[in-house]
Amino acid sequence: MRDASLVVVASRLPVNDAAASEGVFEWRRSPGGLGGALHPVLSNKPATWIGWGGTPGPSRELPDVDGVHMVPVELSEEDFRDHYEGFANSTLWPLYHDAVEPAVHHRRWWEAYQRVNQRYADAAARVAAHGAVVWVQDYHLQLVPAMLRAQRPDLRIGFFLHVPFPPPELFMQLPRRAELLRGMLGADLIGFQRVHAVHNFHQLTAKVLGATVNERGVEIDGRTACTGAFPVSIDTAEMEALARREDVVRQAAKLRADLGSPQRVILSVDRLDYTKGIEHRLKAYRELLADGRLKAPETVLVQVAVPSRERVEQYRQLRDRVEREVGRINGDFGRLGVAAVHYLSQVFDRTELAALYRAADVMAVTPLRDGMNLVAKEYVAARVDECGALLLSEFAGAAAELTQAYLVNPHDVEGLKDTLIAALEADSTEPNEAMAQMRAHLREHDIQAWARSYLTALGAACAGR
Ligand code: G6P
Repeated sequence: MRDASLVVVASRLPVNDAAASEGVFEWRRSPGGLGGALHPVLSNKPATWIGWGGTPGPSRELPDVDGVHMVPVELSEEDFRDHYEGFANSTLWPLYHDAVEPAVHHRRWWEAYQRVNQRYADAAARVAAHGAVVWVQDYHLQLVPAMLRAQRPDLRIGFFLHVPFPPPELFMQLPRRAELLRGMLGADLIGFQRVHAVHNFHQLTAKVLGATVNERGVEIDGRTACTGAFPVSIDTAEMEALARREDVVRQAAKLRADLGSPQRVILSVDRLDYTKGIEHRLKAYRELLADGRLKAPETVLVQVAVPSRERVEQYRQLRDRVEREVGRINGDFGRLGVAAVHYLSQVFDRTELAALYRAADVMAVTPLRDGMNLVAKEYVAARVDECGALLLSEFAGAAAELTQAYLVNPHDVEGLKDTLIAALEADSTEPNEAMAQMRAHLREHDIQAWARSYLTALGAACAGR
């Protein structure tokens, strides 16, 4: 069994064990998701992916998908509730995103977090070959690096956090803050999206653990756990190729016709999550319609909101509020057969998304806090015509790279309204320099470059240990 030389450990497998039709499994590539990001890096490589199949209860055997060996981890209904919905998505997720919703603490959830992390670590220890690279992903699995090192000191262990790492004032609230930091420090290289997060981590390890920070990372147990910022990206070439396809161009034209041939289309694509700033954006749009600065249906908003974490109370309430607001806007500003907001609470495939991106004059990505936001990058990659405008929150990791976007503070409703108007008024039906520059950036800094730079740094971190 111990023969895998590259092992990815992530909360979920990139396939859904319940969704296979006639035993054919497809790689799950939800918009902006971790599985989608890693697909181009891993497909047709001799890699093994350890994760949960998406259904609580006994796991089922899965075939290799796109050449990647799938190793399912089983989660019981209780594990799902207390680890995934509880500690990961009701304690860590809100706290790591500026506590825009309050973090909830239950001691039972911590026990589940430890238990489930141990299960993933054990699975990795079982399959990894001697000296293999094991790459642990995200906030669900912060204890895995140290658990794995305890069993298999021969391994080269990487950890990458896809979400923001919060400032000390917030992280210090966690009752198990020391254990969480120690868990991550089991890795040879701890990667973050932004330099800011690296600084937060350094400060916290010094403050909570009394660790010394050197130029490579954090000194712990006589070794250095290296740290660094590696902004994740997308498969730029793949999105470009998709966006150039004739059927996609035709579909984009049809979408605009179906919307009633408006002069301007604003598009947002989000997981239905309170971090995404959907309510702030709807409020800005409603006020612009009420002020008469925008008119429907000359301008329409298409809001794709992919259902997410639906049993968690904060997500349920958000969905109710968003849907009430969409109904209110359409009630006030729509006409029979003509909506001001087209709200689609569905999963779109990549071809449909590419068509939507090409149909949109302005892409509005305005999260209150976001580790990166790959949807913003996908929109830019899809604009092979160099047209269109990106309205982007300062609080998305992507803002550090896509500096030519229309940057906004989403909490500032007036600023949001003015910047949206500016983006709509710029003639984005013409190729523009901002889009050309952002596209050039993404061609160089794509997902392959990200994986290469991370894995090279991991190799260097291990060479020095
Ligand atoms: C964020 C996280 C990912 C997660 C994704 C979807 O992007 O960083 O780890 O997979 O959200 O969330 P879900 O709860 O559906 O896995």
